[in-house]
Amino acid sequence: MLAFAIFAVTFVGLLIGVVAYLYPSSKNPSTVPGLDPVSKEDGNLGDIAKTGSLHEFLLDLHKQFGPIASFWWGPRYVVSIANADLFKQHHNVFDRPPELFEMYQPLVGAKCIQFANGEDGRARRNLYDKCLTHEAIRKYFIIFQEIADELAKKWETMLNDEHIALTEYMYAFALKAFFASLFGEKMKDDKTVLEFRSIYDVIWAEFEHKLTEPPSEARNKIIVDGTKKLATIVNRMVQHRKDDPPQHGEELLLDLLLDYSDDEELQNADALAYVLGGYHTTGNLLSWAIYFLATHPDCQDKVVDEIKKVLGDDEVDHASIGDLEYLRHVIDETLRCAVIAPMAARFQDVDSELGGHRIPKNTPVIHALGVAAKDETVFAQPDKFDPDRFTHEHARERPHLAFSPFGFAGKRVCPGQRYAYAGATVALVTLLRKFKVKMVEGQIIEQVHGFVTHPSEEIWITILKR
Ligand code: HEM
Repeated sequence: MLAFAIFAVTFVGLLIGVVAYLYPSSKNPSTVPGLDPVSKEDGNLGDIAKTGSLHEFLLDLHKQFGPIASFWWGPRYVVSIANADLFKQHHNVFDRPPELFEMYQPLVGAKCIQFANGEDGRARRNLYDKCLTHEAIRKYFIIFQEIADELAKKWETMLNDEHIALTEYMYAFALKAFFASLFGEKMKDDKTVLEFRSIYDVIWAEFEHKLTEPPSEARNKIIVDGTKKLATIVNRMVQHRKDDPPQHGEELLLDLLLDYSDDEELQNADALAYVLGGYHTTGNLLSWAIYFLATHPDCQDKVVDEIKKVLGDDEVDHASIGDLEYLRHVIDETLRCAVIAPMAARFQDVDSELGGHRIPKNTPVIHALGVAAKDETVFAQPDKFDPDRFTHEHARERPHLAFSPFGFAGKRVCPGQRYAYAGATVALVTLLRKFKVKMVEGQIIEQVHGFVTHPSEEIWITILKR
Protein backbone atom coordinates (compact mmCIF):
# COMPACT_ATOMS: atom_id res chain seq x y z
CA MET A 1 0.00 0.00 0.00
CA LEU A 2 2.81 2.37 0.97
CA ALA A 3 4.63 1.46 -2.24
CA PHE A 4 1.50 2.29 -4.24
CA ALA A 5 1.10 5.65 -2.43
CA ILE A 6 4.75 6.53 -3.17
CA PHE A 7 4.25 5.48 -6.80
CA ALA A 8 1.03 7.52 -7.08
CA VAL A 9 2.58 10.66 -5.56
CA THR A 10 5.68 10.34 -7.76
CA PHE A 11 3.52 9.75 -10.86
CA VAL A 12 1.28 12.75 -10.19
CA GLY A 13 4.36 14.89 -9.46
CA LEU A 14 5.94 13.80 -12.74
CA LEU A 15 2.71 14.45 -14.62
CA ILE A 16 2.49 17.98 -13.24
CA GLY A 17 6.14 18.51 -14.19
CA VAL A 18 5.55 17.30 -17.75
CA VAL A 19 2.42 19.45 -18.16
CA ALA A 20 4.21 22.49 -16.73
CA TYR A 21 7.08 21.89 -19.14
CA LEU A 22 4.91 21.44 -22.21
CA TYR A 23 2.46 24.27 -21.58
CA PRO A 24 3.64 27.61 -20.34
CA SER A 25 1.69 28.34 -17.17
CA SER A 26 0.74 31.78 -16.07
CA LYS A 27 3.88 31.74 -13.96
CA ASN A 28 6.78 33.34 -15.79
CA PRO A 29 9.68 31.04 -16.65
CA SER A 30 12.11 33.56 -15.11
CA THR A 31 12.13 36.02 -12.23
CA VAL A 32 11.82 39.02 -14.56
CA PRO A 33 8.75 40.98 -13.44
CA GLY A 34 6.00 41.28 -16.00
CA LEU A 35 2.56 40.45 -17.33
CA ASP A 36 0.83 37.11 -17.24
CA PRO A 37 -0.61 35.99 -20.56
CA VAL A 38 -4.28 36.86 -21.02
CA SER A 39 -4.74 33.57 -22.88
CA LYS A 40 -2.38 30.73 -23.74
CA GLU A 41 -2.64 31.32 -27.47
CA ASP A 42 -2.65 35.11 -27.67
CA GLY A 43 -0.53 35.92 -24.64
CA ASN A 44 -0.58 39.72 -24.47
CA LEU A 45 -1.13 40.38 -28.18
CA GLY A 46 -4.57 41.77 -27.34
CA ASP A 47 -2.97 44.22 -24.87
CA ILE A 48 -0.53 45.32 -27.55
CA ALA A 49 -3.35 45.89 -30.03
CA LYS A 50 -5.27 47.90 -27.39
CA THR A 51 -2.34 50.31 -26.81
CA GLY A 52 -2.05 50.81 -30.57
CA SER A 53 1.56 49.72 -31.13
CA LEU A 54 4.33 47.63 -29.67
CA HIS A 55 6.28 50.77 -28.77
CA GLU A 56 3.41 52.24 -26.75
CA PHE A 57 2.81 48.87 -25.12
CA LEU A 58 6.49 48.72 -24.12
CA LEU A 59 6.34 52.27 -22.72
CA ASP A 60 3.48 51.15 -20.43
CA LEU A 61 5.11 47.83 -19.60
CA HIS A 62 8.39 49.42 -18.48
CA LYS A 63 6.56 52.14 -16.59
CA GLN A 64 4.80 49.43 -14.61
CA PHE A 65 7.65 46.95 -14.12
CA GLY A 66 10.92 48.88 -14.53
CA PRO A 67 13.78 48.62 -17.04
CA ILE A 68 13.58 44.84 -17.43
CA ALA A 69 10.12 43.38 -17.92
CA SER A 70 8.41 40.41 -19.51
CA PHE A 71 5.26 39.64 -21.46
CA TRP A 72 3.86 37.02 -23.85
CA TRP A 73 4.03 37.39 -27.64
CA GLY A 74 1.29 34.88 -28.33
CA PRO A 75 2.47 31.66 -26.64
CA ARG A 76 6.08 32.95 -26.57
CA TYR A 77 7.62 34.34 -23.39
CA VAL A 78 9.51 37.57 -24.17
CA VAL A 79 11.78 39.82 -22.09
CA SER A 80 12.26 43.51 -22.84
CA ILE A 81 15.11 45.75 -21.68
CA ALA A 82 15.10 49.54 -21.67
CA ASN A 83 18.19 51.13 -20.17
CA ALA A 84 21.87 51.61 -20.93
CA ASP A 85 23.10 49.33 -18.18
CA LEU A 86 21.01 46.40 -19.45
CA PHE A 87 21.87 47.23 -23.07
CA LYS A 88 25.56 46.91 -22.13
CA GLN A 89 24.94 43.38 -20.88
CA HIS A 90 23.56 42.43 -24.31
CA HIS A 91 26.28 44.21 -26.19
CA ASN A 92 27.75 41.19 -27.93
CA VAL A 93 24.66 39.19 -28.75
CA PHE A 94 24.25 38.73 -32.51
CA ASP A 95 21.29 36.48 -33.28
CA ARG A 96 17.86 37.94 -33.94
CA PRO A 97 14.74 36.01 -32.85
CA PRO A 98 12.71 35.23 -35.99
CA GLU A 99 9.37 34.98 -34.12
CA LEU A 100 9.07 38.71 -33.50
CA PHE A 101 9.60 39.58 -37.16
CA GLU A 102 7.73 36.67 -38.71
CA MET A 103 4.88 38.94 -39.68
CA TYR A 104 7.16 40.66 -42.23
CA GLN A 105 8.32 37.41 -43.77
CA PRO A 106 5.77 37.47 -46.62
CA LEU A 107 7.20 40.84 -47.63
CA VAL A 108 10.96 40.35 -47.38
CA GLY A 109 11.15 36.57 -47.71
CA ALA A 110 12.39 33.93 -45.28
CA LYS A 111 15.89 33.95 -46.76
CA CYS A 112 16.58 37.64 -46.17
CA ILE A 113 19.29 38.92 -43.83
CA GLN A 114 16.70 39.88 -41.23
CA PHE A 115 16.37 36.15 -40.44
CA ALA A 116 19.99 35.10 -41.01
CA ASN A 117 21.74 34.18 -37.79
CA GLY A 118 25.06 32.59 -36.75
CA GLU A 119 27.83 32.20 -39.33
CA ASP A 120 25.49 32.94 -42.23
CA GLY A 121 24.37 36.27 -40.78
CA ARG A 122 27.93 37.27 -39.84
CA ALA A 123 29.30 36.37 -43.27
CA ARG A 124 26.62 38.41 -45.05
CA ARG A 125 27.24 41.42 -42.85
CA ASN A 126 31.03 41.18 -43.32
CA LEU A 127 30.52 41.32 -47.06
CA TYR A 128 27.66 43.80 -47.41
CA ASP A 129 29.03 46.24 -44.82
CA LYS A 130 31.95 46.96 -47.17
CA CYS A 131 29.82 49.37 -49.17
CA LEU A 132 28.57 51.24 -46.10
CA THR A 133 31.88 52.00 -44.35
CA HIS A 134 33.10 55.52 -43.58
CA GLU A 135 35.35 55.26 -46.64
CA ALA A 136 32.63 53.92 -48.94
CA ILE A 137 30.16 56.68 -48.00
CA ARG A 138 32.50 59.37 -49.42
CA LYS A 139 31.48 58.65 -52.99
CA TYR A 140 27.74 58.83 -52.28
CA PHE A 141 27.76 62.53 -51.36
CA ILE A 142 27.88 63.60 -54.98
CA ILE A 143 24.92 61.34 -55.84
CA PHE A 144 22.90 62.62 -52.86
CA GLN A 145 23.71 66.17 -53.94
CA GLU A 146 22.49 65.63 -57.49
CA ILE A 147 19.16 64.27 -56.26
CA ALA A 148 18.79 66.97 -53.60
CA ASP A 149 19.46 69.67 -56.23
CA GLU A 150 16.78 68.16 -58.44
CA LEU A 151 14.36 68.34 -55.51
CA ALA A 152 15.31 71.94 -54.68
CA LYS A 153 14.71 72.87 -58.32
CA LYS A 154 11.24 71.36 -58.12
CA TRP A 155 10.53 73.25 -54.88
CA GLU A 156 11.63 76.52 -56.57
CA THR A 157 8.42 76.22 -58.58
CA MET A 158 6.30 75.85 -55.44
CA LEU A 159 7.29 78.98 -53.51
CA ASN A 160 5.08 81.00 -51.19
CA ASP A 161 1.61 79.68 -50.62
CA GLU A 162 1.62 76.36 -52.43
CA HIS A 163 1.00 73.47 -50.05
CA ILE A 164 3.76 70.86 -50.31
CA ALA A 165 3.22 67.24 -49.30
CA LEU A 166 6.39 66.83 -47.24
CA THR A 167 6.57 63.06 -46.76
CA GLU A 168 5.89 62.43 -50.47
CA TYR A 169 9.02 64.36 -51.38
CA MET A 170 11.15 62.98 -48.57
CA TYR A 171 10.29 59.33 -49.32
CA ALA A 172 10.96 59.94 -53.01
CA PHE A 173 14.34 61.54 -52.21
CA ALA A 174 15.29 58.64 -49.93
CA LEU A 175 14.30 55.95 -52.42
CA LYS A 176 15.93 57.61 -55.38
CA ALA A 177 19.13 58.23 -53.40
CA PHE A 178 19.13 54.60 -52.31
CA PHE A 179 18.68 53.15 -55.80
CA ALA A 180 21.23 55.48 -57.37
CA SER A 181 23.98 55.05 -54.76
CA LEU A 182 23.63 51.40 -53.80
CA PHE A 183 22.07 49.69 -56.82
CA GLY A 184 23.49 51.81 -59.67
CA GLU A 185 23.00 55.17 -61.33
CA LYS A 186 20.69 53.66 -63.96
CA MET A 187 18.14 52.47 -61.40
CA LYS A 188 16.97 55.87 -60.28
CA ASP A 189 14.48 56.73 -63.01
CA ASP A 190 11.35 58.47 -61.73
CA LYS A 191 9.01 55.85 -63.14
CA THR A 192 10.62 53.04 -61.11
CA VAL A 193 10.72 55.17 -57.96
CA LEU A 194 7.03 56.06 -58.30
CA GLU A 195 5.99 52.51 -59.12
CA PHE A 196 7.91 51.08 -56.16
CA ARG A 197 6.56 53.65 -53.75
CA SER A 198 2.94 53.32 -54.71
CA ILE A 199 3.01 49.54 -54.26
CA TYR A 200 5.03 49.75 -51.05
CA ASP A 201 2.65 52.28 -49.46
CA VAL A 202 -0.31 49.98 -49.98
CA ILE A 203 1.47 46.94 -48.54
CA TRP A 204 2.84 48.81 -45.56
CA ALA A 205 -0.59 50.13 -44.61
CA GLU A 206 -1.88 46.54 -44.66
CA PHE A 207 0.95 45.38 -42.39
CA GLU A 208 0.15 48.06 -39.90
CA HIS A 209 -3.49 46.99 -39.82
CA LYS A 210 -2.23 43.48 -39.07
CA LEU A 211 -0.64 44.73 -35.86
CA THR A 212 -3.95 45.73 -34.36
CA GLU A 213 -6.70 43.95 -36.28
CA PRO A 214 -7.77 40.32 -36.60
CA PRO A 215 -6.35 38.38 -39.59
CA SER A 216 -8.15 39.03 -42.86
CA GLU A 217 -7.93 37.05 -46.11
CA ALA A 218 -8.57 40.16 -48.18
CA ARG A 219 -5.70 42.03 -46.49
CA ASN A 220 -3.35 39.09 -46.93
CA LYS A 221 -4.14 38.98 -50.63
CA ILE A 222 -3.24 42.66 -51.02
CA ILE A 223 0.08 41.95 -49.30
CA VAL A 224 0.85 38.86 -51.38
CA ASP A 225 -0.03 40.55 -54.69
CA GLY A 226 1.89 43.72 -53.83
CA THR A 227 4.92 41.77 -52.68
CA LYS A 228 5.06 39.95 -56.00
CA LYS A 229 5.06 43.30 -57.80
CA LEU A 230 7.85 44.69 -55.59
CA ALA A 231 9.87 41.52 -56.11
CA THR A 232 9.47 41.94 -59.88
CA ILE A 233 10.89 45.47 -59.72
CA VAL A 234 13.84 44.38 -57.56
CA ASN A 235 14.40 41.35 -59.77
CA ARG A 236 14.53 43.64 -62.80
CA MET A 237 17.34 45.60 -61.15
CA VAL A 238 19.17 42.42 -60.19
CA GLN A 239 18.99 41.19 -63.79
CA HIS A 240 20.06 44.56 -65.11
CA ARG A 241 23.15 44.51 -62.92
CA LYS A 242 23.96 40.94 -63.84
CA ASP A 243 23.76 41.80 -67.55
CA ASP A 244 25.83 44.92 -67.11
CA PRO A 245 28.32 44.15 -64.32
CA PRO A 246 30.57 46.91 -62.89
CA GLN A 247 34.30 47.34 -63.45
CA HIS A 248 36.52 45.88 -60.76
CA GLY A 249 36.60 48.27 -57.79
CA GLU A 250 33.26 49.87 -58.76
CA GLU A 251 31.06 47.33 -56.99
CA LEU A 252 27.98 48.62 -55.21
CA LEU A 253 25.76 47.00 -52.59
CA LEU A 254 23.75 45.18 -55.24
CA ASP A 255 26.91 43.55 -56.62
CA LEU A 256 27.94 42.37 -53.16
CA LEU A 257 24.46 40.92 -52.58
CA LEU A 258 24.84 38.99 -55.83
CA ASP A 259 28.31 37.78 -54.84
CA TYR A 260 27.22 36.19 -51.59
CA SER A 261 25.19 33.37 -53.02
CA ASP A 262 23.91 31.98 -56.32
CA ASP A 263 20.50 31.44 -54.77
CA GLU A 264 18.27 33.92 -56.60
CA GLU A 265 15.62 33.83 -53.90
CA LEU A 266 18.22 34.91 -51.34
CA GLN A 267 19.65 37.59 -53.64
CA ASN A 268 16.23 39.11 -54.24
CA ALA A 269 15.27 38.85 -50.57
CA ASP A 270 18.40 40.69 -49.41
CA ALA A 271 18.05 43.30 -52.12
CA LEU A 272 14.48 44.02 -51.00
CA ALA A 273 15.44 43.96 -47.30
CA TYR A 274 18.07 46.65 -47.84
CA VAL A 275 15.74 48.84 -49.89
CA LEU A 276 13.09 48.63 -47.20
CA GLY A 277 15.57 49.05 -44.33
CA GLY A 278 17.11 52.07 -45.99
CA TYR A 279 14.37 54.00 -47.66
CA HIS A 280 11.45 54.07 -45.27
CA THR A 281 13.66 54.96 -42.28
CA THR A 282 15.59 57.75 -44.02
CA GLY A 283 12.41 59.14 -45.61
CA ASN A 284 10.79 59.37 -42.19
CA LEU A 285 13.90 60.81 -40.57
CA LEU A 286 13.88 63.62 -43.15
CA SER A 287 10.13 64.20 -42.84
CA TRP A 288 10.30 64.45 -39.05
CA ALA A 289 13.43 66.63 -39.11
CA ILE A 290 11.75 69.19 -41.38
CA TYR A 291 8.56 68.95 -39.33
CA PHE A 292 10.48 69.74 -36.11
CA LEU A 293 12.38 72.59 -37.77
CA ALA A 294 9.16 74.04 -39.17
CA THR A 295 7.57 73.92 -35.72
CA HIS A 296 10.76 75.27 -34.03
CA PRO A 297 11.78 78.27 -36.18
CA ASP A 298 14.55 79.25 -33.73
CA CYS A 299 16.24 75.88 -34.34
CA GLN A 300 15.76 76.30 -38.10
CA ASP A 301 17.52 79.69 -37.94
CA LYS A 302 20.41 78.16 -36.00
CA VAL A 303 20.82 75.42 -38.61
CA VAL A 304 20.90 77.97 -41.42
CA ASP A 305 23.42 80.18 -39.56
CA GLU A 306 25.66 77.18 -39.06
CA ILE A 307 25.45 76.16 -42.73
CA LYS A 308 26.49 79.71 -43.74
CA LYS A 309 29.34 79.78 -41.24
CA VAL A 310 30.74 76.33 -41.94
CA LEU A 311 30.10 75.92 -45.66
CA GLY A 312 29.66 79.40 -47.10
CA ASP A 313 28.34 78.52 -50.56
CA ASP A 314 30.06 75.13 -50.73
CA GLU A 315 28.30 71.81 -50.83
CA VAL A 316 28.62 69.49 -47.86
CA ASP A 317 30.91 66.49 -48.30
CA HIS A 318 32.58 63.78 -46.24
CA ALA A 319 35.18 66.25 -44.95
CA SER A 320 32.81 69.03 -43.84
CA ILE A 321 29.89 66.97 -42.53
CA GLY A 322 31.56 66.65 -39.11
CA ASP A 323 31.73 70.45 -38.76
CA LEU A 324 27.94 70.81 -38.99
CA GLU A 325 27.57 70.03 -35.32
CA TYR A 326 24.25 71.69 -34.66
CA LEU A 327 22.64 70.01 -37.67
CA ARG A 328 23.90 66.68 -36.34
CA HIS A 329 22.23 67.51 -32.99
CA VAL A 330 18.99 68.25 -34.86
CA ILE A 331 19.17 64.89 -36.64
CA ASP A 332 19.91 63.07 -33.37
CA GLU A 333 17.11 64.84 -31.54
CA THR A 334 14.78 63.94 -34.43
CA LEU A 335 15.77 60.28 -34.15
CA ARG A 336 15.10 60.45 -30.41
CA CYS A 337 11.88 62.46 -30.39
CA ALA A 338 10.27 60.70 -33.34
CA VAL A 339 11.61 57.28 -32.28
CA ILE A 340 12.19 56.40 -35.94
CA ALA A 341 12.99 52.73 -35.24
CA PRO A 342 11.54 51.84 -31.83
CA MET A 343 13.10 48.43 -31.24
CA ALA A 344 15.60 45.69 -32.04
CA ALA A 345 15.75 42.17 -30.58
CA ARG A 346 18.11 39.28 -29.86
CA PHE A 347 18.14 35.76 -28.45
CA GLN A 348 20.77 33.33 -27.18
CA ASP A 349 20.66 29.56 -27.58
CA VAL A 350 22.01 29.04 -24.06
CA ASP A 351 20.67 30.08 -20.66
CA SER A 352 22.04 33.50 -19.76
CA GLU A 353 21.83 36.22 -17.14
CA LEU A 354 20.45 39.70 -17.58
CA GLY A 355 19.94 42.30 -14.85
CA GLY A 356 20.46 39.58 -12.23
CA HIS A 357 17.75 37.32 -13.72
CA ARG A 358 18.27 33.98 -15.41
CA ILE A 359 16.96 34.13 -18.98
CA PRO A 360 16.03 30.70 -20.35
CA LYS A 361 17.72 29.85 -23.64
CA ASN A 362 15.96 30.95 -26.84
CA THR A 363 13.94 33.66 -25.05
CA PRO A 364 13.52 36.66 -27.37
CA VAL A 365 14.91 39.79 -25.70
CA ILE A 366 13.59 43.08 -27.04
CA HIS A 367 15.90 46.09 -27.04
CA ALA A 368 13.35 48.80 -26.32
CA LEU A 369 15.40 51.57 -27.95
CA GLY A 370 12.41 53.92 -28.09
CA VAL A 371 11.57 53.45 -24.41
CA ALA A 372 15.19 54.23 -23.45
CA ALA A 373 15.09 57.32 -25.68
CA LYS A 374 12.06 58.59 -23.74
CA ASP A 375 13.40 57.77 -20.26
CA GLU A 376 12.80 60.96 -18.27
CA THR A 377 15.57 60.15 -15.79
CA VAL A 378 18.02 60.43 -18.70
CA PHE A 379 16.25 62.90 -21.01
CA ALA A 380 14.33 65.47 -18.95
CA GLN A 381 11.00 66.45 -20.54
CA PRO A 382 11.44 63.62 -23.03
CA ASP A 383 8.77 64.76 -25.49
CA LYS A 384 10.31 68.20 -25.90
CA PHE A 385 12.36 68.76 -29.08
CA ASP A 386 15.66 70.18 -27.85
CA PRO A 387 18.74 69.56 -30.02
CA ASP A 388 21.02 71.00 -27.32
CA ARG A 389 20.69 67.71 -25.41
CA PHE A 390 23.30 66.45 -27.85
CA THR A 391 26.02 69.03 -27.20
CA HIS A 392 29.24 67.30 -26.08
CA GLU A 393 28.83 68.51 -22.53
CA HIS A 394 25.28 67.12 -22.18
CA ALA A 395 26.05 63.90 -24.03
CA ARG A 396 28.95 63.26 -21.63
CA GLU A 397 26.56 63.34 -18.68
CA ARG A 398 24.60 60.25 -19.75
CA PRO A 399 25.57 56.65 -20.45
CA HIS A 400 26.28 56.52 -24.18
CA LEU A 401 24.04 53.52 -24.96
CA ALA A 402 20.99 55.39 -23.59
CA PHE A 403 20.66 56.87 -27.08
CA SER A 404 20.91 53.97 -29.54
CA PRO A 405 18.60 54.75 -32.46
CA PHE A 406 20.44 52.31 -34.74
CA GLY A 407 20.68 49.49 -32.18
CA PHE A 408 23.76 48.74 -30.09
CA ALA A 409 24.39 45.02 -30.17
CA GLY A 410 27.81 44.65 -31.69
CA LYS A 411 28.27 43.50 -35.24
CA ARG A 412 24.56 43.68 -35.97
CA VAL A 413 23.75 47.32 -35.41
CA CYS A 414 22.09 48.98 -38.37
CA PRO A 415 24.50 48.87 -41.32
CA GLY A 416 23.04 52.08 -42.77
CA GLN A 417 23.84 54.43 -39.87
CA ARG A 418 26.57 56.52 -41.56
CA TYR A 419 24.70 56.40 -44.85
CA ALA A 420 21.52 57.77 -43.23
CA TYR A 421 23.37 60.70 -41.59
CA ALA A 422 25.10 61.52 -44.88
CA GLY A 423 21.93 61.40 -47.01
CA ALA A 424 19.86 63.35 -44.49
CA THR A 425 22.57 66.01 -44.07
CA VAL A 426 22.92 66.62 -47.81
CA ALA A 427 19.15 66.91 -48.25
CA LEU A 428 18.67 69.21 -45.24
CA VAL A 429 21.59 71.51 -46.14
CA THR A 430 20.40 71.81 -49.75
CA LEU A 431 16.79 72.59 -48.86
CA LEU A 432 17.21 74.72 -45.73
CA ARG A 433 19.83 77.07 -47.16
CA LYS A 434 17.41 77.87 -49.99
CA PHE A 435 14.01 77.77 -48.31
CA LYS A 436 12.42 78.86 -45.08
CA VAL A 437 10.05 76.06 -44.14
CA LYS A 438 6.70 76.67 -42.42
CA MET A 439 3.82 74.45 -41.40
CA VAL A 440 0.44 74.90 -43.01
CA GLU A 441 -1.69 75.94 -40.05
CA GLY A 442 -4.31 73.81 -38.34
CA GLN A 443 -2.65 70.38 -38.65
CA ILE A 444 -2.44 67.89 -35.84
CA ILE A 445 0.34 65.48 -36.65
CA GLU A 446 0.68 62.40 -34.50
CA GLN A 447 3.29 59.67 -34.43
CA VAL A 448 2.27 56.23 -35.64
CA HIS A 449 4.70 53.64 -34.28
CA GLY A 450 4.98 50.58 -36.47
CA PHE A 451 8.37 49.05 -37.06
CA VAL A 452 9.19 52.56 -38.25
CA THR A 453 7.52 55.68 -36.86
CA HIS A 454 5.68 57.75 -39.43
CA PRO A 455 3.27 60.69 -39.25
CA SER A 456 -0.43 59.95 -38.84
CA GLU A 457 -1.15 61.85 -42.04
CA GLU A 458 0.63 63.87 -44.69
CA ILE A 459 2.58 66.85 -43.32
CA TRP A 460 1.75 69.94 -45.34
CA ILE A 461 4.31 72.74 -45.48
CA THR A 462 4.85 75.99 -47.34
CA ILE A 463 8.22 77.42 -48.30
CA LEU A 464 9.63 80.92 -48.72
CA LYS A 465 12.82 81.74 -50.59
CA ARG A 466 15.66 82.77 -48.26
C1 HEM B 1 17.04 56.78 -39.89
C2 HEM B 1 17.66 55.79 -40.43
C3 HEM B 1 17.72 54.39 -39.85
C4 HEM B 1 17.38 53.92 -38.61
C5 HEM B 1 16.83 54.70 -37.42
C6 HEM B 1 17.66 52.49 -38.62
C7 HEM B 1 17.48 51.66 -37.53
C8 HEM B 1 17.79 50.30 -37.54
C9 HEM B 1 17.70 49.43 -36.41
C10 HEM B 1 17.30 49.86 -35.00
C11 HEM B 1 18.04 48.20 -36.82
C12 HEM B 1 18.10 46.93 -35.96
C13 HEM B 1 19.52 46.80 -35.44
C14 HEM B 1 19.70 45.65 -34.50
O1 HEM B 1 19.07 44.62 -34.71
O2 HEM B 1 20.47 45.80 -33.56
C15 HEM B 1 18.33 48.26 -38.22
C16 HEM B 1 18.68 47.17 -38.99
C17 HEM B 1 18.91 47.25 -40.34
N1 HEM B 1 18.99 48.39 -41.10
FE1 HEM B 1 18.68 50.26 -40.46
N2 HEM B 1 18.12 52.15 -39.85
C18 HEM B 1 18.20 53.27 -40.63
C19 HEM B 1 18.67 53.36 -41.92
C20 HEM B 1 19.10 52.31 -42.68
C21 HEM B 1 19.66 52.42 -44.01
C22 HEM B 1 19.94 53.74 -44.73
C23 HEM B 1 19.90 51.14 -44.45
C24 HEM B 1 20.48 50.67 -45.75
C25 HEM B 1 21.33 51.38 -46.46
C26 HEM B 1 19.47 50.23 -43.39
C27 HEM B 1 19.49 48.86 -43.48
C28 HEM B 1 19.25 48.02 -42.40
C29 HEM B 1 19.36 46.57 -42.49
C30 HEM B 1 19.65 45.75 -43.74
C31 HEM B 1 19.15 46.08 -41.20
C32 HEM B 1 19.18 44.61 -40.77
C33 HEM B 1 20.64 44.22 -40.56
C34 HEM B 1 20.87 42.79 -40.12
O3 HEM B 1 19.93 42.02 -40.08
O4 HEM B 1 22.02 42.48 -39.79
N3 HEM B 1 19.00 50.98 -42.34
N4 HEM B 1 18.19 49.56 -38.65
